[in-house]
Amino acid sequence: MALKHHSDDKVRFDQQVDNSVSYLVPFLAHTKPLTAGLNVMEVGTGEGGVLVPFMDAGCFCLGVDLVPERIELANQFLEKEVAAGKVKFVCQNIYEDAFYSQYNGFFDIIILKDVIEHVPNQEEFIPYLMKFLKSGGQIFFGFPPWYMPFGGHQQVCRKKWLSVLPYYHILPNFLYKGLLKLGGEHPIVIADLMEIKTTAITIERFERIIRKSGLKVLYKEHYLINPIYKYKFGLNPRKQWKLVSALPYVRNFLTTCVYYTVG
Ligand SMILES: C[S@@+](CC[C@H](N)C(=O)[O-])C[C@H]1O[C@@H](n2cnc3c(N)ncnc32)[C@H](O)[C@@H]1O
Repeated sequence: MALKHHSDDKVRFDQQVDNSVSYLVPFLAHTKPLTAGLNVMEVGTGEGGVLVPFMDAGCFCLGVDLVPERIELANQFLEKEVAAGKVKFVCQNIYEDAFYSQYNGFFDIIILKDVIEHVPNQEEFIPYLMKFLKSGGQIFFGFPPWYMPFGGHQQVCRKKWLSVLPYYHILPNFLYKGLLKLGGEHPIVIADLMEIKTTAITIERFERIIRKSGLKVLYKEHYLINPIYKYKFGLNPRKQWKLVSALPYVRNFLTTCVYYTVG
């Protein structure tokens, strides 16, 4: 069941803006209040909507993504802001030397919202991200833990029963793939879902990488109901109960989203 935001680019953009204004910026404000003049980078920016409140506050923003079509959309939706030099969108791999030489030590804030779970080898990627921070800079991560009911991103399946069935992404690869094939899912969707299975990230592994990278968790919030479910399913966001949040491993199965600021 493809949701509206999967097929309508403007809906997706508007949801990014609203989610950023209502949740991401207030969350960041606990450790890094938004002020003019900050340099902000979003890695995996998609259509660029997350950056809107930052550019409105007078920050310089850079949106990076690997998919050219999404960068093209970001440039269209924010044409005036791009022309005014408030934001720049680039389709580039941040591992490229040219990117590193231009931006190392440049950013006060780096944002990865719904991105880290798509990135291979996070153990290498997160310490690499730190090279782009100014002294005192902070990184925001928001992601769905792998073991949550839809941690496999199976909601993108075109067959309704496959998109609403929870937890089956945890099955061994051959069973998971077999079920997707049996349901008649498109080979491209199957390939995408199998790739996400290889980059899966849990709360514990994420926190371990943060510690090993020499970073500290500055603020965190776990959600029983992810703020973006407001747009996807009309559900009100809800923070996770403290007791569940404190239960290592178990919490992954019941937490649909986590927000972290590290620095
Ligand atoms: C689920 S979308 C999230 C878009 C946006 N951040 C939001 O919250 O709506 C994930 C995006 O991350 C991008 N992405 C994944 N890995 C990336 C990487 N290594 N570098 C840059 N972008 C990446 C994808 O192309 C995609 O546009």
